[in-house]
Amino acid sequence: MSAGSQPDSQGAQSVLQVRDLEVHYGPLTALQATSFDVAAGEIVVLLGANGAGKSSLLKAIMGLEPIAAGTASFDGRDLGRLPSHRRARLGIGYVPEGRGVFPTMSVEENIFVGLRKDGAREKVLSTVFELFPVLSERRRQVAGSMSGGEQQMLALARALAGEPRLLLIDELSLGLAPKIVARLFEKVAQLRDSGISILLVEQFAHAALRVADRSGVFVRGEMTAFGAAAELAALTPAQLTEMYFGTRGSNVANGSEAAANSTTEVQQQ
Ligand SMILES: Nc1ncnc2c1ncn2[C@@H]1O[C@H](COP(=O)(O)OP(=O)(O)O)[C@@H](O)[C@H]1O
Ligand SMILES: [Mg+2]
Repeated sequence: MSAGSQPDSQGAQSVLQVRDLEVHYGPLTALQATSFDVAAGEIVVLLGANGAGKSSLLKAIMGLEPIAAGTASFDGRDLGRLPSHRRARLGIGYVPEGRGVFPTMSVEENIFVGLRKDGAREKVLSTVFELFPVLSERRRQVAGSMSGGEQQMLALARALAGEPRLLLIDELSLGLAPKIVARLFEKVAQLRDSGISILLVEQFAHAALRVADRSGVFVRGEMTAFGAAAELAALTPAQLTEMYFGTRGSNVANGSEAAANSTTEVQQQ
């Protein structure tokens, strides 16, 4: 399979290709050989219980944890051992778990931390303020005094300041009320519609499946399902929970030939 030129099943070009990727912490394999693609302009949501390896996957793609085996390629370019700031400059944005906003800095200052080009300040502000009007109203407020949902918007805004073409989002819904979460997922769908490809990992956010194009499930570091999001969304919450814990199999079809290497069907753990 040639890097970068492999169209996925929808005929779109892959922005991100992950092949047999592994992350280790000493003797612990946090992520077993994992393969999937994110196509241009799609939202991929990967679900899994606490400790399933979701954050490790995003960190390896972002260059914050070393890749122990396999590859991650962006626009056909193997990311290898590139440091994370170089990956950001290539166009990969990252919203870490727990948001990581700077609490004593203002909203505006937090956004500027994410800037890739200093000259882009005004353009970036107008883009993120259009998407999140509340941040415009609070541009001089210190970030730590805002609600959890507003801080999550700010974390998204800071990542958008780097003008990414691929956005990695770690648990957007963490600690937020369902209504706020639904609104944030709508924003993510808007970002997708504006042409940004999105890889989102989530623990128990079934709502994420409503905006996702394709989705997968991780169980103890292994991808056990990957396919059209509608197929996972059609499961009941109880069935989905069983899948999170690897106690249930299903035949969620594979959405891409690429991922077929490792996960043709949901495998029983
Ligand atoms: N820095 C680390 N050092 C050692 N083990 C880690 C580290 N980070 C994560 N792990 C372990 O790797 C596994 C996967 O963790 P993680 O990727 O954070 O999962 P998730 O994001 O799905 O909750 C867990 O067993 C976790 O304890
Ligand atoms: Mg995590």
